[in-house]
Amino acid sequence: MKIGIISAMSEELEPLLTAMNLEEQHTKATMTFNKGSLWGKDVIAVVSGIGKVNAAICTQILASEYDVDCVINVGVAGGIGKDIYPGDVVIGDTLVEHDMDATQFGYKHGQIPRLDTFDFKSDAKLIEIAKKACENLPEINSFVGRIASGDEFVANIDRIKWLSETYDAISCEMEGASIAHVAYLNKIPFVVIRSISDNANNGASMDYEKFIPVAIKNSTTILENMIKNI
Ligand code: ADE
Repeated sequence: MKIGIISAMSEELEPLLTAMNLEEQHTKATMTFNKGSLWGKDVIAVVSGIGKVNAAICTQILASEYDVDCVINVGVAGGIGKDIYPGDVVIGDTLVEHDMDATQFGYKHGQIPRLDTFDFKSDAKLIEIAKKACENLPEINSFVGRIASGDEFVANIDRIKWLSETYDAISCEMEGASIAHVAYLNKIPFVVIRSISDNANNGASMDYEKFIPVAIKNSTTILENMIKNI
């Protein structure tokens, strides 16, 4: 079992790299692929860079060159809805690219034209393992629901409302759905685990700076518990 782990930013992956027994490092497309073991499992852990294109390239390299058996995307996200707070964890059961707009051709917002699915579904087994990890850590509030990804840092109350109404999303970020998209095309199971750093509202960038440490701590704690049970 070879697990690919992707974070968009170095600070999100740093706790994992510290815990990892590093064997090899390879640079591809400017990304450093860290091969080794983590909590007893073979992993390739990598910082993709921010946004859907970086994340897609990174996932395709994990698929084509490392032949990973599954992909886990871990990091921070904006929360959507009044009941979700910084530090809470979201398990993305479905992912959608919220900035895909071919509505001029009669497609729903988010539908990738000519693709046979609207959203990308995380692997049922990986979701169960993630849920168990959340049950084992009741001090961390957790949610299961749709994550909407796009090349946009959402910091606007009208935009959150739109994301909620259009996609029924409980969280937004900038990579998950593109990782899911590539994993789907390559038939690789995946799951997206994010912790909330802000509420994607008008004060989002300030909250983000304040809460990013707790969000990284919580997503890493859940991932550790998960990996030990894979
Ligand atoms: N990642 C963390 N917070 C975010 C937000 N508000 N929008 C997009 N990506 C994020």
